[in-house]
Amino acid sequence: MRTWHWTRVALDSFATRGGVLGPDSRPPHNMSGYYDYRGTATLRELPRLGAHDLFPLGRFVNPRTGRRKREIGLAPGDIATHALAVGPTGSGKTTSLVVPWAAAALDAGYATIVADVTGALVPKIGAELIASGVSGVSAARIDYRHPTPDGWAFVRELSDERRLSAAAQALIGRERPGDPQPFFWQRDTRLMTGLLATAHASRRPVTARELLAAVHDQRALRAYVSAYGTPRAQVLLSDALAADPFDYSKITSGVVNALEPLAVPQVDAITGNDRVRIDDALSGSGLVAFGAPLGDGRLGESFAALFLNLLIERVHARHGGSAYPAILIIDEAARLADRVDFELLLSTSRAAGVSVVLAAQDIAQFPEGRVRDGVLANCQTLITMPGVGATTAQKVSERLGTRPEIEIDHHRQTNHFFASAVNRRHQRVPVLDTREIFEPPFGPQCAVVHSRPLSPKPFVVDLSRSGL
Ligand SMILES: Nc1ncnc2c1ncn2[C@@H]1O[C@H](COP(=O)(O)OP(=O)(O)OP(=O)(O)O)[C@@H](O)[C@H]1O
Ligand SMILES: [Mg+2]
Repeated sequence: MRTWHWTRVALDSFATRGGVLGPDSRPPHNMSGYYDYRGTATLRELPRLGAHDLFPLGRFVNPRTGRRKREIGLAPGDIATHALAVGPTGSGKTTSLVVPWAAAALDAGYATIVADVTGALVPKIGAELIASGVSGVSAARIDYRHPTPDGWAFVRELSDERRLSAAAQALIGRERPGDPQPFFWQRDTRLMTGLLATAHASRRPVTARELLAAVHDQRALRAYVSAYGTPRAQVLLSDALAADPFDYSKITSGVVNALEPLAVPQVDAITGNDRVRIDDALSGSGLVAFGAPLGDGRLGESFAALFLNLLIERVHARHGGSAYPAILIIDEAARLADRVDFELLLSTSRAAGVSVVLAAQDIAQFPEGRVRDGVLANCQTLITMPGVGATTAQKVSERLGTRPEIEIDHHRQTNHFFASAVNRRHQRVPVLDTREIFEPPFGPQCAVVHSRPLSPKPFVVDLSRSGL
């Protein structure tokens, strides 16, 4: 017992030198300058971790010693309650999580739907599958940057009111909280819905360019509606159809602005042919990658949101039915938050058997309030990479809460050299403070994980992969 105590003291002094406290460290006499990871879980407190390690999480790190322990991963059940990975550019979200998780899901037979931000994701997932010896995976690519994209005639999908409003929301955007003039948003949404309903009734793949031509002037719109318009579409379009000709272009400008970015030949090449249906993407094993380019501004956002909103609508339709396991991995998700209702997706997709993995550079990129809180509350697993911003670190620290701790103060009495007083104070300290979240001192690929299905406590992992 004595020896054990001595060893323990020796290890503590080692930790003192390292300046990092782990869950098994004693409280030091003076906390200043220490990284405090005493609130993290030990490997023993995470018995399920690694037992069904389908989605790899690198190696467990002992914070006090910095020693890497065994390889770990998350089980399908852990991911069923969704995950959010946050890290600045270059921190390894794509390399450490998106690619290996997509490959693991494909290997396990998931319907795997990924947002491809850079255009390089599909080859990376392909290389990962080859490296793991997985073959025979089917793949479809709905990406206008790709020379031979698979066609996706989105207008053909708009067969009911819910799908029409999902598409209109992707193109016009979500209603902004506190918008002083919601009337304009309502009118633009109504007109877009009517235009899309008319296009769907034409029973052809219709491109954004054709939609623009149809709404270009009042006469063209009237002709289009009289050829294909349903009574409902006529009501939705009545603001434009009955407008004073002088006001027509003002009334339709929101719809024109929303369609213009998509009216380019590369997008026409996809939306003008009908090979992939969203129901197919969710109905069996295989990869569906949709383009969500960052550099293309509104074009990339509109295209990705269109695909995603129609997919989400189909996810809702799966409720209660016999669902094929599916995973939806959305890199750089935050920039779509103005068009895609992530809170709704996250709060409803579990029941539909769809796991959602979001990656973002900073939690602050999600609009403050309902959206940000909804995303955080509904992603039961949260992974933060080194270098996350102040808002992210603050939000994560708040989410982890506080824990009781004994603080020891040593006071040496000035006039008595050998006399000192020791005060023990019980107080509540953050489970992890912001510095421990944005600056983990364990190496560049070390992340902090908080996975509620596994433990209320967070833990540290090293995601570095050899050969990269
Ligand atoms: N797990 C890892 N092991 C070794 N190197 C890695 C790892 N993750 C990332 N890297 C290195 O960091 C680089 C950037 O990683 P990655 O593109 O995954 O970052 P990211 O967080 O997705 O950035 P962005 O937000 O810009 O997309 C990689 O090209 C690779 O060199
Ligand atoms: Mg990336």
